[in-house]
Amino acid sequence: MTDTIDATADRALKAKHRAMWALGDYPSVARDLIPELGRVLVAATGVGPGDRVLDVAAGSGNAAVPAALTGAEVVASDLTPELFPAGRAFAAREGAEVTWEEGDAEALPYPDASFDVVLSCVGVMFAPHHRQAADELVRVCRPGGRIGLVSWTPEGFVGEMFRTMKPYAPPPPPGAQPPPLWGDERHVRDLLGDRVTDVVARRQTVTVGGYPSPEAWRDSWKTVYGPTIATYRNVGDDPERVAALDHDLAALAARYDRGTDGIVLDWEYLLLTARRA
Ligand SMILES: C[S@@+](CC[C@H](N)C(=O)[O-])C[C@H]1O[C@@H](n2cnc3c(N)ncnc32)[C@H](O)[C@@H]1O
Repeated sequence: MTDTIDATADRALKAKHRAMWALGDYPSVARDLIPELGRVLVAATGVGPGDRVLDVAAGSGNAAVPAALTGAEVVASDLTPELFPAGRAFAAREGAEVTWEEGDAEALPYPDASFDVVLSCVGVMFAPHHRQAADELVRVCRPGGRIGLVSWTPEGFVGEMFRTMKPYAPPPPPGAQPPPLWGDERHVRDLLGDRVTDVVARRQTVTVGGYPSPEAWRDSWKTVYGPTIATYRNVGDDPERVAALDHDLAALAARYDRGTDGIVLDWEYLLLTARRA
């Protein structure tokens, strides 16, 4: 009985997450702000011709498409198939062949050891149950295969953005862990445990710009990024709370801004690679 209730609650939670990531225009974030991350991850994991690659929580293919361009055979898996048309268009523009499949990172629809390389670019970090998701990454990777992850760090801009939004967001469901914990090397080492070897982790930044002011970034961000749109909706009935969230997000961007002609923000992430034992 408990299992049934848990399974039903989990389906409802995942449906909510899917609807959230389909809000706004996530593919424009991947395309315009962080395209570098997919390429960095593909290079760090040494993806190449003949590799069978799974991109977990692939979105519109930020890592899947550059992986396919190396000559690898790539499956892009995501909870939110609403993002796939943009991914297909991206792949077509680049001349890459990618297979797009709906799937939950916590219950990947693949047999054990079916991939040479398992990647996730700021993706698996958003699955709510970290151990379950980590177990799945390890399970579908063949012994000797590679796992590569890019995750926003808790201390970096995106980690701070989630902390800034928290007082305005709906309370997280019981048992859900905060996404930026995946940006903490110790947490990921603990999740993967002795099932991997050769762990290499480093903190890097991706530079985001192209907006004349912190307020311009915020006004764009609140129309494109699902979690931010959902946070605004949560306080939508209260103009004072909306104004306070507006203020806090612009203040966050202003604090990080090192630009002189338009904003320049460094967003920190953890790049972690490992070999499946
Ligand atoms: C920030 S986007 C990253 C997408 C892509 N990897 C990129 O680099 O642009 C996070 C992605 O995680 C996906 N996601 C969230 N929860 C998931 C889950 N439980 N299983 C699979 N994908 C999930 C979302 O649908 C979304 O595409």
